[in-house]
Amino acid sequence: MTSRLKVGVLVSGRGSNLQALLDACGDPSHPAEIVTVISNVPGAYALERAAKAGVPTQTIDHKGFSGREPFEAALTAALESAGVQLVCLAGFMRLLTPGFVTHWHDRMINIHPSLLPSFKGLHTHERALAAGVRFHGCTVHYVRADMDAGPIIVQAAVPVLADDDADALGARVLEAEHRIYPLALRLVAEGKAVVDGERVLLRDAGGPDHSLVNPLD
Ligand code: GRF
Repeated sequence: MTSRLKVGVLVSGRGSNLQALLDACGDPSHPAEIVTVISNVPGAYALERAAKAGVPTQTIDHKGFSGREPFEAALTAALESAGVQLVCLAGFMRLLTPGFVTHWHDRMINIHPSLLPSFKGLHTHERALAAGVRFHGCTVHYVRADMDAGPIIVQAAVPVLADDDADALGARVLEAEHRIYPLALRLVAEGKAVVDGERVLLRDAGGPDHSLVNPLD
């Protein structure tokens, strides 16, 4: 087998998406391997998940730095000394400067709990309910300087049901997140998700050939 893509995951919290990535990459035939997990929040549960999977962890607390640039310089130094080729943001709750984003251009991906470009930012499930959309979902995309923007790799749609509250809808979306993040990582690691301008071209990736209607007719 050719060498696996070396991945660094940046986290801030519970790390359920990290867990999905760890589980997928735990298979030695997966084309990516997670070589480091870095949290900006000391004691984040995600760190325990990584340790359990035998993946080295680091905590780089943004509060210990005088600003975003020095904090991000420490992140990049830690990622590069671990040999990271691709950065996965997985619930990493810091805005990133254009300098950091440019450094990792087309080498950094993120998961967001909405069907981008709808509902960028926080509280996506509440806002989807308030807007009355019939489908909601999640997106894995390459990271660009604008928040929650960048070429889309994979999306999953889930139905919004009549009696949903934000928790019920969020749980449905989270389940979909855990499916699409490993899928997107695989496509990137296999070289099947190629950035072309502001879009991603997928090669040999398969895909559904039908539309969905909510409510079903
Ligand atoms: C997820 O909903 C992800 O889409 C968003 O932050 C949340 C992180 O959850 N960016 P977890 O830490 O992966 O459980």
